[in-house]
Amino acid sequence: MNVQARPHHDTTHGELHAELASKFDTTAMASESTLLNPRFYTTDFDELDKIDVSSVRADWDVLIAQMRSDPNKGHFKKNADWDSIDWASMDPELRKEFIDFLVSSCTAEFSGCVLYKEMKRRGSNPDICELFSYMSRDEARHAGFINDALREAGVAVNLGFLTKAKKYTYFRPKFIYYATYLSEKIGYARYITIFRHLEANPDQRFHPIFKWFREWCNDEFSHGEAFALLMKSDPKLTESFVNKLWIRFFLVAVYSTMWVRDHARPAFHNALGVDIEWYDQEVFRKTSAIARQIFPVELDIDHPAWVPTLRNIESAMRAIEDGTRKGGIGGWVKRSAGMARVGVGFARLYMIPVRKNSVPTSPRLQPSY
Ligand SMILES: [Fe+2]
Ligand SMILES: [Fe+2]
Repeated sequence: MNVQARPHHDTTHGELHAELASKFDTTAMASESTLLNPRFYTTDFDELDKIDVSSVRADWDVLIAQMRSDPNKGHFKKNADWDSIDWASMDPELRKEFIDFLVSSCTAEFSGCVLYKEMKRRGSNPDICELFSYMSRDEARHAGFINDALREAGVAVNLGFLTKAKKYTYFRPKFIYYATYLSEKIGYARYITIFRHLEANPDQRFHPIFKWFREWCNDEFSHGEAFALLMKSDPKLTESFVNKLWIRFFLVAVYSTMWVRDHARPAFHNALGVDIEWYDQEVFRKTSAIARQIFPVELDIDHPAWVPTLRNIESAMRAIEDGTRKGGIGGWVKRSAGMARVGVGFARLYMIPVRKNSVPTSPRLQPSY
């Protein structure tokens, strides 16, 4: 489907912006704290600052030198490849889901920016400060670039306001490592999978931003590498019995959240020509393969209960939403039943036997997809 090929409406630019701005309060969308929205995090910055990377020094220096050289310095700028996009004649359902996708991605990128910048600001450990300054630099560019795309539709997110209005979730440093490592590597896998798909099917590229994904995902890859090294510097983070259970927990939580979130955007994936179940399994597969660099356990996404349970959780999430919208006793019952089903589904996923992994001495990897 080629959305751009459809004829122009008579609506002027200004009218369209006003119409979209009245329909999509993107700053409010980004500020919302729901189960599925990207969150903002805070942590114990002093504990994080105490990390000693000397046991991984050789790998660390190579990675930091690469980040210092700033390979994507000029990448996040619109150029001739940025074809004009006809928001006015885009199918309204697709437009709604696409804006939702952009807002959610922008929030996630900006969430990284805020957390990394705060670490850099509060820290005194030169290794940590240098790393977090490069990572916040990259995430600021990513969020800004997505916001430019939203601005063209007249619906940019007010990022300054968001920093103040958004609720922050506290995570202990080790949970930040697990969650952030995973979200960086998943970010890489998501961006590169879409990029490769559209490279093979350019007629399905309904917006130019996807052309920027290849270099973009290399930033996310390096960020994930940094967290792998941080975890490696303190072996008990990935080797103790309890921490292995936590890693398993984060894998299930992050994968199932992604599944539910993606299934809420059928028109968006349809326009890209991507089957959501295929795409999500593909992203899990790549992420799991990469995570063998540091995680001692891996989820069995080919287990016969995996996909059916994810489908169950997804339909239960829709029931919860329905119930909330409906209200009253009937709504409450529907909502509670949905929540119980999500709980059971999550436990079921957690109980699927994991695959054990022998982790290599040096975690370092290069992006290879
Ligand atoms: Fe990013
Ligand atoms: Fe990142």
